[in-house]
Amino acid sequence: MKKGQMKTVLLIVGIFLFSTIKADEGEQLFKKTCTACHTIGKGRLVGPDLLNINEKQSQDWLIAFIQSSTQLIESGDKDAQAIYEEYNRILMPDNPYTDAQVIAILNYIRQQSKAAAGGEQSAPVEDILSGTTSENINTGMNLFTGKQKFKNGGSTCISCHNVQDERIFSSGTLALDLSQSYANMGSAGVSAIIANPPFPVMNMAFKNHPLTSEEVVNLTAYLKSVSDKRVHQASADFSLYFVLAGLFVFISMMLIILVLYFDRKRLAVNHEIFKRQTKVVN
Ligand code: HEC
Ligand code: HEC
Repeated sequence: MKKGQMKTVLLIVGIFLFSTIKADEGEQLFKKTCTACHTIGKGRLVGPDLLNINEKQSQDWLIAFIQSSTQLIESGDKDAQAIYEEYNRILMPDNPYTDAQVIAILNYIRQQSKAAAGGEQSAPVEDILSGTTSENINTGMNLFTGKQKFKNGGSTCISCHNVQDERIFSSGTLALDLSQSYANMGSAGVSAIIANPPFPVMNMAFKNHPLTSEEVVNLTAYLKSVSDKRVHQASADFSLYFVLAGLFVFISMMLIILVLYFDRKRLAVNHEIFKRQTKVVN
């Protein structure tokens, strides 16, 4: 092999190694930060499926969006605003990554998109709630309220979050009300967020107190029950309950008024006195 050829081969090997390292970094970052909300070719979670996202938007746009979608939305970017509206105005958290790190993530997404097109992608993951029962929901509720402690310690959810559930008296208002979370993002999204919170405040609370996978399943089952209940019965039942209660109070008041009305002296006391006095005079 000539010296020139050797150099070219080394260069190619170098570029190859460099790019795989980059893709590795991208994979790590993606799995650490993005999988809570995105899949590549497995459908929508909290955010959109990122399959072939590199073909849909320019690299500059993607870097800007991933670093701070909030800024891009506020700057008036139409695409960013449209996708924000489409996803129920859930803000994607900012990411403190350099351009190079974001490009590594984008390379990883490109690589995975190709794999998906080639049919190499594994089947969609099974729903983590399959096989769960009301026992999971109850345990989840007790974990949520703090009645049952987390295995590794950690704050109760209710210290920060509220839910609309008549079974429990609430609760924290520091963070979002979670009654709708399941309806918005399904079991995959909710469980991913609980297991690996992409929000700094919540992340801090569990960083040194990781939840067990069983706890994640139970909490997800509980949040699903809250969400289902709200949609299917609670609101309807409550309005009927209030109407009936209102009717009851109204009827009771009418009865009291009627009783008082018939019970009152037929004629005023003054009338009696007047009659006596006029008698005396006559
Ligand atoms: C907490 C959930 C969450 C996390 C974590 C998250 N995203 Fe997002 N992402 C969203 C949501 C929701 C949208 C939809 C746009 C919006 O609501 O602003 C979105 C939109 C996007 C878009 C635009 C997609 C399109 O079709 O235009 C890209 C690209 C993206 N995210 C990449 C990433 C990457 C890369 C990461 C990891 C570094 C990441 N996201 C982490 C929730 C998240
Ligand atoms: C220290 C406060 C804190 C604690 C404790 C906490 N969270 Fe959070 N959580 C947050 C913050 C902050 C957010 C981001 C949304 C917001 O700004 O309210 C969030 C977001 C979420 C979301 C996404 C909501 C949505 O619809 O977008 C879920 C689901 C969630 N938390 C579940 C839980 C569960 C389950 C627990 C208990 C294991 C818990 N959280 C404990 C602060 C907390």
